[in-house]
Parts: sequence; C-alpha cells; structure tokens
Amino acid sequence: MMDTSKLRVFITAERIQERIKELGAEITADYPDGIIYLVCILKGACMFHADLARAINRHTRLDFIGISSYGKGKTSSGQVRLTKDLDSPIEGADILIVEDIVDSGVTLNYLTQVLQQRKPKSVRIATLLDKPERRQRPVDVHYVGFQIPDEFVVGYGLDFAEDYRNLKDICILSE
Ligand code: IMP
Ligand code: MG
Repeated sequence: MMDTSKLRVFITAERIQERIKELGAEITADYPDGIIYLVCILKGACMFHADLARAINRHTRLDFIGISSYGKGKTSSGQVRLTKDLDSPIEGADILIVEDIVDSGVTLNYLTQVLQQRKPKSVRIATLLDKPERRQRPVDVHYVGFQIPDEFVVGYGLDFAEDYRNLKDICILSE
C-alpha cells in the first residue's frame, strides 16, 4: 500500500475537472480555426493533457516531449535536457504546450526557445499549476489552472521521485 500519512489534499479531483472545463472553453474560443497541437511535457503533464484535450472542442493533435530538469529531490538541478523529441515537425503550426506546473521557469524557458527555432505559427503555454513566487526565468504563460503558494505538491501526474502520480487529488507532501 502507498504511504499517505505525509499527504494533505490541496485541490480535489472534482475542482481540477471543473477548472479544466473552463480552460478548455477558453482555449476553444481563442483558437477559431485549424489544428491545435497539444504538446504534453512528460511525464507530469500526462493527466492534464488527456483531460484538457477532451475539454477542447477543436481539431487537435496530440504529441509528447520529454524534458528533464529535476533530479530526484524537490529542487531543480537547473540543467535541462531533451529526453524525447516530438514525433512531427511543427513548422507553421499552432502549438499549445501543456505542463503540470511552472516553478523556476527553467524548463519552459528552454523548451519555448527550442520550439520557436522550428518556426511554428504560434506557441502558447497551458499549465495546471503555477508557483509564481519561485520564478527565476521569465515564462509567458497563457492559461493557468491554479496559482499556488510555494509548497511541494504531488498527484494528478505530479510526482516525488516518481511516486504519487496516480493520486486523483493534488496533495501537499510534507516531511
Ligand atoms: P521548473 O523548470 O523549475 O519550472 O520546473 C518545472 C518542473 O519541475 C515541473 O514540470 C515538475 O516536473 C517539477 N516540479 C516543480 N514543482 C513541483 C512540485 O511541487 N511537485 C512536483 N513536481 C514539481
Ligand atoms: Mg514536469
């Protein structure tokens, strides 16, 4: 069994789904025509990507990119590495990067630059969670699910050393 003694529910599964419906409606209204490429940043954004895609009433395509900026601890290593590239070229495409959480901003600052070099028509970012207090690099985030304080959270895709990703709620992990 999983040890849940250090977990405190912070955002319930129900609230997450409500907010995703709102974001989906907003994105649907913002992109009038054409294909939206929803780029999931593995692995943390997998749940959000799957639910957000179904909340968007547009022609979409799903792709996945692997980035690693975190070690096994709770703080960023500051080093960013591409571990899996997109399957398709994105020149001329509308790209919506789907992320679980923006913390220091190192990951998205890097990824946005990498994708911009491929000359897409547009690049926007949708993140489920944002910790604005922690920002070290500027990131232009268009869609934010929830702004949260500087707490370490797990669940709904988010992990601590690969654990807790399958929790339905987002929980604060304390020592
Ligand atoms: P950044 O590059 O510092 O913005 O880090 C972003 C990545 O760090 C996210 O995609 C997460 O994988 C991870 N991360 C940041 N804060 C948390 C957290 O509170 N819980 C779990 N993962 C986090
Ligand atoms: Mg991540």
